[in-house]
Amino acid sequence: MSQSVEGFSKWTKEEKIRWIAKNYTQDPEQSIELIKSYWNADQDLQLLHDEFIENTISNYYLPLGIAPNFLIDGTYYSIPMAIEESSVVAAASKAAKYWSTRGGFKTEIIGTEKIGQVHFLYPGETDKLQSFFNSITAQLTADCKPLTKNMEARGGGLSSIELKDKTHDLQHYYQLHCTFETADAMGANFINSCLEQLAKSLEREAIRHEIDIEVVMSILSNYVPNCLVRAKVSCSVEELGTIAGIPPKAFAKKMVQAVSIAKASPFRAVTHNKGIMNGIDAVVIATGNDFRAIEAAAHAYASKEGHYSSLSHAEIKDDQFNFWIDIPMAVGTVGGLTKLHPLVKLSLEILQHPDAKQLMRIIAVAGLAQNFAAVKSLVTTGIQQGHMKMHLMNILNQLGATPKEKELLAKTFENETVSFSNVSKALINLRS
Ligand code: MEV
Repeated sequence: MSQSVEGFSKWTKEEKIRWIAKNYTQDPEQSIELIKSYWNADQDLQLLHDEFIENTISNYYLPLGIAPNFLIDGTYYSIPMAIEESSVVAAASKAAKYWSTRGGFKTEIIGTEKIGQVHFLYPGETDKLQSFFNSITAQLTADCKPLTKNMEARGGGLSSIELKDKTHDLQHYYQLHCTFETADAMGANFINSCLEQLAKSLEREAIRHEIDIEVVMSILSNYVPNCLVRAKVSCSVEELGTIAGIPPKAFAKKMVQAVSIAKASPFRAVTHNKGIMNGIDAVVIATGNDFRAIEAAAHAYASKEGHYSSLSHAEIKDDQFNFWIDIPMAVGTVGGLTKLHPLVKLSLEILQHPDAKQLMRIIAVAGLAQNFAAVKSLVTTGIQQGHMKMHLMNILNQLGATPKEKELLAKTFENETVSFSNVSKALINLRS
């Protein structure tokens, strides 16, 4: 069955599909048919998707849903979300509606600074390196001008270059620690190009000044604690209303306790933050941004105090319930897939063509809404009630229910506990 292969990337798409189906699947003809059934009938559109990555054989669908009624800083948004988890869009929509009658979401951009580093080794005296660095800083910046010129015209650029002594962490290890502003671009390509230029210039100047430097690598950092957005909801405790029979005061207290638990216990914090990322990733993917970068930054930020903790915060202060999140968010609304992927373009249009800052706000709100919905369920009804209700269609599809059966059983389970065995029993009963 399985085997290695030479020159796979040079083969035609057809050859790749035949080879993978023949060598790795039980029924090659059926697998080929399945792979091709996900191709787009529009050949140009398919080619566009084929060329996003190497060795494309087909398309992998995720549902694109809409969570409406998000009142953000006084404007209503309908938020596109690409996600497979059944309850996420429903939970976001519910939280949006709930907060729309309680003042909506308020946001604040705390910073937009991006970071990149040239990592290098130097075995000599730190003072000597420092004066060498001071003498070449202007030259380093000047060498980057051809790369930074356009970005500067858009309000961004290379903001600073700092020499960092990391020899207490690793022998002979130093960094050029650089900060950037990238306007409406996520900026990864811009930053990496600048860093590689800086590394070249550093090496050239080192030779000229007879400084023994070995550059190891140059790369942006996905940890962006100063590219930060805050999203917040707030209302009087009374305004929270009675939730699942729980009076407002008790509910507010439970919410604060739940967040305190996520701050105290990393095991809970990971799941708590995972719920936040349910909302965040879905919008990040819908808008063609890099969800791995957002995830990595979020979890690093959650550990900034030296232990993994909650990304969201809650308090009751002067009879007000405050619930908010601070989260790093390096996203772009130009470049990358934003002009290429038709559904990304549409998602950005639905969001009213946000700039990068506005998109940061919207995504943080989606994360906060998701977190509010999850924690609200957890401290009241429990998560399974809503979750399994949304999962009902998946179970029915898995059991091969017809549209009519689905309609009847959806009614039956409005007031019943959804579980795989309960649903399959109900389907058998219905059929008999
Ligand atoms: C499930 O995808 C997300 C939750 O587990 C989040 C949480 O526990 O807060 C419900």
